[in-house]
Order: sequence, then structure tokens, then C-alpha cells
Amino acid sequence: MKIGTPLTDHATRVMLLGSGELGKEVAIELQRLGAEVIAVDRYPNAPAMQVAHRSHVIPMTDPQVLNGIIMAEAPHIIVPEIEAIATDALAAIEAAGLARVIPTARATQLTMNREGIRRLAAEELDLPTSPYAFAGSAEELAAGAEAVGFPCFVKPVMSSSGKGQSYVQSADQVADAWDYALASGRVDTTRVIVEGKIDFDYEITLLTVRSLHDDAVRTDFCAPIGHRQQKGDYVESWQPQIMSEAALQAAQDIAGKVTDALGGLGVFGVELFVTGDKVWFSEVSPRPHDTGLVTLATQTMSEFALHARAILGLPVDVSLREPGASAVIYGGMEAEGVVFEGVAEALSVPTADLRLFGKPEAFERRRMGVALARGADTDQARSRATEAASRVRVVNS
Ligand SMILES: Nc1ncnc2c1ncn2[C@@H]1O[C@H](COP(=O)(O)OP(=O)(O)OP(=O)(O)O)[C@@H](O)[C@H]1O
Ligand SMILES: [Mg+2]
Repeated sequence: MKIGTPLTDHATRVMLLGSGELGKEVAIELQRLGAEVIAVDRYPNAPAMQVAHRSHVIPMTDPQVLNGIIMAEAPHIIVPEIEAIATDALAAIEAAGLARVIPTARATQLTMNREGIRRLAAEELDLPTSPYAFAGSAEELAAGAEAVGFPCFVKPVMSSSGKGQSYVQSADQVADAWDYALASGRVDTTRVIVEGKIDFDYEITLLTVRSLHDDAVRTDFCAPIGHRQQKGDYVESWQPQIMSEAALQAAQDIAGKVTDALGGLGVFGVELFVTGDKVWFSEVSPRPHDTGLVTLATQTMSEFALHARAILGLPVDVSLREPGASAVIYGGMEAEGVVFEGVAEALSVPTADLRLFGKPEAFERRRMGVALARGADTDQARSRATEAASRVRVVNS
């Protein structure tokens, strides 16, 4: 693997599609390795744009516009950071041999739609999942919900971060769930998945890395990350999540099969539910995962460093250094150009660190930063991270 000099004709150009906080950390790691980084998102001054060589503001779901910017920049590697991208345009670029799509164009297509990845996991790979059905109308949803049983979750097939999701406890709530899914789905889709509720003891993200070692693809698993979700968004994560040996084996087996099937190089966030020794596949991000922000505090190489290395064809080290935790800092208000107070107080919590993402605009439930901490165990790390996050106050400028 050769890396050129940025801003010259032989630069190694990497284009990020999506420039949020996860992309920002990936951009920093790519910069450290001497790549030329081009950040793209639908709004200006997005976090990764602030640390990239160049940036572009485009509607990334528009295939023509997306194709145009890729042609103009001629990146060697395209790194999707979000799901809401015209992935068919990426498939055409990849098929024409114009750039490498991370991990593969097909993986981005399959995972942007819950139907694609669920059918692959449950029907082709035969992995354990919640019972599920797909529906394209209120009537189909009612039948699907009866089939999987109550309580269940209804989710638009194209959505993330809990958008448009409902928890449905009985048949009389199904119609509302349908309306809610339609109103808040990402695209004009009229399709939902209904999933039976898994009564899990805990849920994890198993970061799985496909990288090249001596020209052969190798799969490595990071230590499992436990997390707590609220309204479909993670609020707190910790690593390692203590698991039985059997459950860890089952989790790695599932993650290995899913990532083998998706292929390519890079980090994957495999979301799993665990009860005792039993593990269910939930979904997978073919990219660093938000709950994996904790690895900035815990691992020799964060998930962002791992991603940068893997996609450049470089070897990785997934070792855990010490237990740690992350806690999210929300906007708590709608305002532009907010100010963060209490930063020094937050950083005086032992081992605490912060990432403030630099997002130009805050919303009530927008993730504006994250607090990180280490500890003798994850309990201590969690209380430190949560304390540090609580000391940061987002205020109007
Ligand atoms: N079938 C299920 N059984 C039990 N809990 C579930 C189920 N589906 C979803 N959940 C809960 O809701 C959370 C969010 O679900 P899911 O990951 O499918 O949504 P998402 O919108 O893709 O979220 P994100 O983009 O943040 O990963 C899960 O992490 C889990 O806590
Ligand atoms: Mg999820």
C-alpha cells in the first residue's frame, strides 16, 4: 500500500459521504496517515468538514448530483458515513472501477434498507433474529403484527436513529404506528418492518473489523460494547460488556457471518441482543458505530483509527487497553452557534475527556458532544462519563 502527498496529483483521495461526528474522527485519522480528505454533507460546516482538505454541500440522496461530485473529485476511496445516500450511484461508480466504496457498494445498498439486511441475515445466513414481517399498507401491518405477536416494534424500512419507530403493545395501536412511520420515514417509502420484541438481558455492539494482513483479509472483533438506548438513540455506552463465554462465541459467530457476507474492508457495528447464552442479530452498520465512540477512551486504536487503517489496506490492532464509558451530551434546545459552559468542571472528573463536535446548530435531541472516561471497571467509568457529561451546559450565545 502506497500513500501519496495530499494536494498533489498523486494524493490518496478519500471522500466522506456524511460529515458528522463519526466522520470527523475518521477524517482526523485519515489526515494523520497522509490521505487527502474531501468531506461531503447536506449542510455547511458539518463536523468532518472542519477537519477536511475540502468540502462540498450537496443533497446526497440525489444520484446525479452525487455522481457529479464524485466525477469532479475523482476520489480513490468513498466512505459512506450515513445510510441516506444514493447508493445506486455508488454501485455504478464501483462497477465502472472508478473508486472503491467502503466496505462495498452492495453492503451500503443492503444495509440502507432494513428489508435487505434482515432477509440476508435471517433467510440467507439463517441467523437468529426477532420474528418479523414487512408491510406496505395499514392492513398488511395489522396482519404482520398479529403474526409476530405483541408487543412489537414498527420501523420504516428506510430510517435510522429511532425515527418513525413505535413500540406497539396491542392491535388497537397498529394504525397509529403506521401513520407515524409514514410521517417520519426518511424517504417517501410506504414500507415498514414489524419485529417481535426480544426480551433481552442486555444489548451490545460488536465492532468487527475486516482488514488486510499480508494481502489476506482478516476479521477481528473488538471487545463487546454495552449500551443503553432511549427513543432509538444511544445515551450511554461502555466497554467491555461482560458476557458468558458461550454468548461471546455466538456473538462473534454471527458477526463473522454477517460481515463475511457483506465483504470489503473496514469497521462494522454489529448490533446484537443477548439473554443468557442466547444471541440475536438485530442490525449492522457497515461503518463505525455511534456507541463505539467509547473506543476513543478504551482501545489502543479507536474504531475510527481502525476504519482509516482498514480502508487504506493497512493492518489493525483491536486490543482493549482499559475499561471505559461514553455519555452523550444533547443540545437540549433549538439554537444556532451554541456555547458550552462547564467544560473545565467536566474535565476535572478523573480520567474524563470530551469531544465537542462543533455542529453549527443545536436541537433538543441532537448529539452535540460526548463525554468519555476510563475506570477500574465499567461501573466506575460509567459514573465518571455520566458525571462529566452532566457538567457540560449548552447555552445560547
Ligand atoms: N425487536 C426488538 N426487540 C427488542 N428491542 C428492540 C427491537 N428492535 C429495536 N429494539 C430497541 O430499539 C433500539 C433501536 O432499534 P434499531 O437499532 O432497530 O433502530 P435504529 O433506528 O436503526 O437505531 P440506530 O440507528 O440508533 O441504530 C435497539 O437498540 C433496541 O434497544
Ligand atoms: Mg440500531
